[in-house]
Amino acid sequence: IHSEVFTDAEEASVIVAHEIAALIRYKTEKNEKCVLGLATGSSPIKVYKELIRLHKEEGLSFRNVVSFNLDEYYGLAKEDVQSYIYFMHHHLFDHVDILPENINIPDGKAPFEFMSEACTQYEEKIESYGGLDFQLLGIGRTGHIGFNEPGSKINSTTRMITLDHLTIQDNAFAFDSMADVPTKAVTMGVGTILKAKRVVILAWGMKKAEIVKKTVEGEMSSNVPATFLQEHSDVSFVMDESASQQLT
Ligand code: F6R
Repeated sequence: IHSEVFTDAEEASVIVAHEIAALIRYKTEKNEKCVLGLATGSSPIKVYKELIRLHKEEGLSFRNVVSFNLDEYYGLAKEDVQSYIYFMHHHLFDHVDILPENINIPDGKAPFEFMSEACTQYEEKIESYGGLDFQLLGIGRTGHIGFNEPGSKINSTTRMITLDHLTIQDNAFAFDSMADVPTKAVTMGVGTILKAKRVVILAWGMKKAEIVKKTVEGEMSSNVPATFLQEHSDVSFVMDESASQQLT
């Protein structure tokens, strides 16, 4: 894992957005689809803001982009403001020219009995595009990437999981109370993420310093699923100074 420390999240996010934009332009020139794995949460918001600016002011087109989001809360639909599909429309999709048919997000409303089939289909759809060219990630304080909580295996695929208590606590701000946070979610697996050709993981602020250290310097273990990124040959861990504080 290659650590890259920036003064602040703003500066770092612009650089990450420019890498994504360059990839979109390169793929578009070659007449190929650009397959992006996208994340929600607070970490990628400034990256999306810069991508929107590049679209509006510098002609960056998303018509060739196919996106696959990492995860969705189980039980939430696009009308729910806390759902990740709502988030993605609000923070990116509604402001760029991505084609609606090229947007993919795990379906939080799939009936329980069809969930495993829906997850297999999600994996197959990613494969049908030749895999993810680029995966953007945040990191949870439990060491989750996507919603691969502690216990997740290195070769795990898209599936339904139970959210860790700490994750529910950290995400409760978006809901009326902790009791309203869904306890389950659908997430791409660690294995799905590791198959991406390039991975960029973001962390901002002191609250992430401890998990950043464990991820980069700790022993690889399913107790901290993000450590599995150590197996990947092209991962950049992009962080601000506060998040880098505990690195040796
Ligand atoms: C979001 C996701 C999660 C978040 C993580 C960090 O799609 O998969 O892994 O990236 O929980 O969240 P923030 O960025 O809000 O600190």
